[in-house]
This record gives sequence, C-alpha cells and structure tokens, in this order.
Amino acid sequence: MQTKILNIDENSLNIAKNLIKNGDLVAFPTETVYGLGANAFNDYAVKSIFKAKGRPADNPLIVHVHKDYDLSLLVDEIPDYAKILSKEFLPGPLTMVFKSKNKVSPAVSCGLNTLAVRIPSHKGAQEFLKCVNLPIAAPSANVSKHVSPVTAEHVFYDLNEKIPLILNGGKCQGGIESTVLDCTGNVPCILRSGLITCEMIAKIVGNCLIYKPKEGEQVRSPGMKYKHYSPKCKTELFTYEEIEKAKELYLKSIENGIKVYILCDDECANLINVENLLNLGKTEEEIAANLYDKLREGENLADLIIAVAPKKQDGVMVGVMNRLSKACKS
Ligand code: TXA
Ligand code: MG
Repeated sequence: MQTKILNIDENSLNIAKNLIKNGDLVAFPTETVYGLGANAFNDYAVKSIFKAKGRPADNPLIVHVHKDYDLSLLVDEIPDYAKILSKEFLPGPLTMVFKSKNKVSPAVSCGLNTLAVRIPSHKGAQEFLKCVNLPIAAPSANVSKHVSPVTAEHVFYDLNEKIPLILNGGKCQGGIESTVLDCTGNVPCILRSGLITCEMIAKIVGNCLIYKPKEGEQVRSPGMKYKHYSPKCKTELFTYEEIEKAKELYLKSIENGIKVYILCDDECANLINVENLLNLGKTEEEIAANLYDKLREGENLADLIIAVAPKKQDGVMVGVMNRLSKACKS
C-alpha cells in the first residue's frame, strides 16, 4: 500500500471520508501531535490501529469529535466541573475521561468502563472531523514507543506503506500530547500532563489533582506504564544543576569519536556553549512545540543525545519533563 500525503482541501477531505467509512485509517494533524484515526464504531478499523502501530492491546484510545458533536451520545455522568472546564478549554488540548455509554467499539477503551474524549482545536482536524461526522478513535500517529509525530513527514517515516493517507496540516503548534483528565471523581485528576496545566484547571474549578500510581497499584491510565517517546539512538538525561557533568560527557564522547548532540533550552545552550546543539527555544510553549521535532532530528544525527532539563519545572514543563524522562529511560 502506498501512503499518500495530501494537503487538506475539499478533495483530500472527501478521500479521507471515504477511507474512514470504509474502515481504513487516516492520519490527521491536531494542535498537539498527529493522530492516526479510525471510525470508533467500527471494531475492525479500531483493531487495525493497534496493528499498524504495534500498540499493546491494553492501552486505550482517545475518541476525537468535532466541536458541535453531542458528547452525551458517547459518555455519561458529566460532572459540573467538567462542563465548566469544557467551556473554558474546548476545543483545545484537553482530553476528558468519563463513564462510557459503550456505544463505540469495545477495543477503543480496551475493556475499561470509561471513555476518553477530545475536541481538538486545529482547523484541519475540525474540518476532517466535521466532514466524516463520526467519532474518530486516534492515538498519536507514530510506531508504538517511538517519538510522537509533529509533522506529516514524521508520520510518513513511521507508517509509510501501513496506512493509505496522511492529511498534511504542517507542523503541530502544541508539540506534546493533550492533558488527559479523569473526570469520573469529585475532583478532576490529571492522568497525563500537557499544555492545559494543573494550575490552569485549579484556577477555574478550584481544585485539581495529579495522579501518581502507588507501588504495585494497577495504573489508571494504562499508557503511563509503557516506555514512550524514545529516539532510536542512546539518550542520557541530566538536571539543570548537572550542566557541567553533561558537558564533560559531551567532550568525552567527542574524544571517543561518538556523534553526540546536546538537547536543551536556550538558557542552557548559552551556558554550555557547545557546537552540536539541539536548541528547544526560550519560552515553555516553544520548548514543548520543539521537543519531539528536535528528538527526531537528533536521532538522525547522533549516536548519543545528552538532554539537559530546563530550570523551570512547573506549568507546561511538568508535561515536557514527563516526556523527556520517558524518552531517556533505558
Ligand atoms: O494530543 C493527544 O492526545 C493525541 C492526539 C492525536 O489527539 N493523542 C494521543 O493518544 O496522545 P495516545 O493514544 O498516544 O495517548 C492516549 C492516552 C494514553 O496514555 C491512554 O492510556 C490514555 O490516553 N487513555 C485513553 N483512554 C483512557 C481511559 N478510558 N482511561 C484512562 N486513560 C485513558
Ligand atoms: Mg502516543
């Protein structure tokens, strides 16, 4: 199967719609990362997502809908705080987990009685979702465990010949996956950190928890237990305070003929002053937006990426650090 990359227009949207209705997969851009979409009602199509990605069968998928879709068709027991958060942040990079009405394929939630739903704000994503007018189950459009894709070329690199179509919407602006928020309890609880931060949620509804699995407990967001976001080369992570150690390793690696790059934000780049740099930028938004792009650039240039964590560790950096530490886990 040849994989086509098409810019989003009336013609490509029609092709995408026919593919989805036919049970095929279509990759599409969102404001966070590219998604690999299938008709959430079609059991066969949903299962083929797991096959194309090599995704573990117990890692549930997020269902994406357009902004005028009635979520109460799919989920139950939407608490008041979730309604308030929806008004504030949707469409946008916030996924909410509710009790499922079991209308979509059981393969979407991998047997859980909950369903994760998301209304992306990306214009092309909205056009695609509106055109198909179906709930679309979609994980990030990478091969399982690899770095998530933020360009159509990244998707092509991972899934060429495995899917028929990639809708091209340019580089994703957000850069890290949506915040996953459990809305089944009395208080919203973040299962995966992202661009909508704990501070932002608490400011609107007064309270927000961040889920941390206890030793031996079954994780509430199954995706968290897997190695993720990893580049194909070796990686090593240092804290901001360990800049000198990172530089030592860089110099030693060069001496030993190892192709090495340092991945860090602009502040660290100025301090560390080395030639082979993957600079993530200055602001927390820039750092998030560039993270996966630079990790993918790095894996094609280097035998070793030495990552140095930014000094700032709150807000959006919680999500960035979560991805970076998983990328650098051996
Ligand atoms: O930004 C995003 O969320 C992107 C774009 C494509 O929308 N999607 C994405 O999907 O990151 P994926 O499959 O890579 O990650 C989905 C995460 C996983 O950590 C999974 O465990 C969690 O959402 N999840 C899905 N359904 C869940 C549920 N019912 N309960 C708890 N966690 C759930
Ligand atoms: Mg993913």
